[in-house]
Amino acid sequence: MEIDIQLVPSQPDSDILLNRTVVVIDVLRATSVMVHAMWQGALEIIPLATAEAAFEMAKVFPRGSIILGGERRSKKIPGFDLGNSPKEYIAERVKGKKLILTTTNGTKAFHVVSSGREILVGSFFNIGITAQRCLELNRDLLIFPSGDEGKFSLEDTICGGMLIERIMKKGGKRIDLSDASRCAQILYKKFEDNLTEAFHLSHHGKELINRGFIEDLAYCAQIDMTDIVPIFREGVIRISL
Ligand code: MLT
Repeated sequence: MEIDIQLVPSQPDSDILLNRTVVVIDVLRATSVMVHAMWQGALEIIPLATAEAAFEMAKVFPRGSIILGGERRSKKIPGFDLGNSPKEYIAERVKGKKLILTTTNGTKAFHVVSSGREILVGSFFNIGITAQRCLELNRDLLIFPSGDEGKFSLEDTICGGMLIERIMKKGGKRIDLSDASRCAQILYKKFEDNLTEAFHLSHHGKELINRGFIEDLAYCAQIDMTDIVPIFREGVIRISL
């Protein structure tokens, strides 16, 4: 089993993706929101690229059955129900609901890798179970940090590095790492005892602090909060137990 990580979120070759497991990561904050919402009982999530597409999609379903969520410039979109802080996605708001979500980077990333064989939603919240699922699937793996408007993202790469570390610990010698994966693993080791510190150093972490979301940094650094691995298939994210 080979593990590669796409350090910059450009479109991977779709032939490469066909037989791979893909894990999409947007720690601050889209995939953290997705995992949190599903953990709290959301039925499914439809990740979309634009607010316009989200409003259109919302018309298809009875109003009480859906939640519109997401951000632009980290803030809740006017007319939406929720923003993009994981803590907003609690059972009282999301249980039994479909979530239509649009964010700057994270929701788009799923469409970029949609030809992957199995596309998993990764975050620190579900890192252990995601590593286990990747091993069970036993295919080559591409970790896809959704990045920061097309650029490298420190926090997503560190999360990818932790995923690699967890897979290596369980999978041992049968795991081959690309040079990019080795880099992510080394980066993770540098910050493993203080993930929040890395978030404070990162470009998007600083933006979130400036925009009033400092609490989300420590919140999104929590590890193994849940045992669910959401899967993106045919445009929808659902839970896989
Ligand atoms: C994104 O998808 O780009 C992020 O989740 C942005 C954010 O939460 O500020």
